[in-house]
Amino acid sequence: KPQAIVFDLDGVITDTAHLHFLAWREVAAELGIVIDEVFNDRLKGISRGESLLRILRHGGKEGVFTQAEREQIAARKNALYVDSLRSLTPEAVLPGIKELLTTLRTEQIKTGLASVSLNAPAILQALQMTSLFDFCANAALIRRSKPDPEIFLAACNGLHVNPRACIGIEDAQAGIEAINASGMRSVGIGSTLTGADLLLPTTEFLTWPRLSAFWQLDK
Ligand code: BG6
Ligand code: MG
Repeated sequence: KPQAIVFDLDGVITDTAHLHFLAWREVAAELGIVIDEVFNDRLKGISRGESLLRILRHGGKEGVFTQAEREQIAARKNALYVDSLRSLTPEAVLPGIKELLTTLRTEQIKTGLASVSLNAPAILQALQMTSLFDFCANAALIRRSKPDPEIFLAACNGLHVNPRACIGIEDAQAGIEAINASGMRSVGIGSTLTGADLLLPTTEFLTWPRLSAFWQLDK
């Protein structure tokens, strides 16, 4: 069996990917930029600052704001986002996730988190999931966003496991690329992803028997 399974947070553990979108959409609208869910897919797994740069580029406003102004805009987005997190309760955990993490405990497979979100620790607290993870990579120490493998490698490092003996789970294209570049085996959630070693339509299909069969098949 694998030594560890490393999870993305937004869009895999809980549907905060949508809350990120709502906050960015509001901030973008204030700047006269329209973004939709299709564009938003390209922001998944991307850090706050880099997301803003992509939105400005999308709206043809690259170079309009100073670094200090961009930081203010990003802070405004975060305030809206954090406000929307107030309603987050354990019920917001996506189907099958809690069961999977609990089973991984009994199977003695280590669990890690690889989210570039600075809000990840607070979100895990609100979902009452903190104790189900052996190690959470610290987003504040990560210099390169996904698709760079840095955060997945940091998670494996913190878990003291070899990436080649691990599975990574992602809902973002940049995340699948990060997992593949790390040497881990990739599991994608969603129908629009390419390059995942295993693609499942929703988290409901994410069960230990399914992952175990995948691990053995791929060897
Ligand atoms: C990722 C999300 O998990 O975290 C991105 O997929 C988000 O959409 C990024 O921009 C950074 O999150 P935060 O909470 O630090 O702004
Ligand atoms: Mg995600």
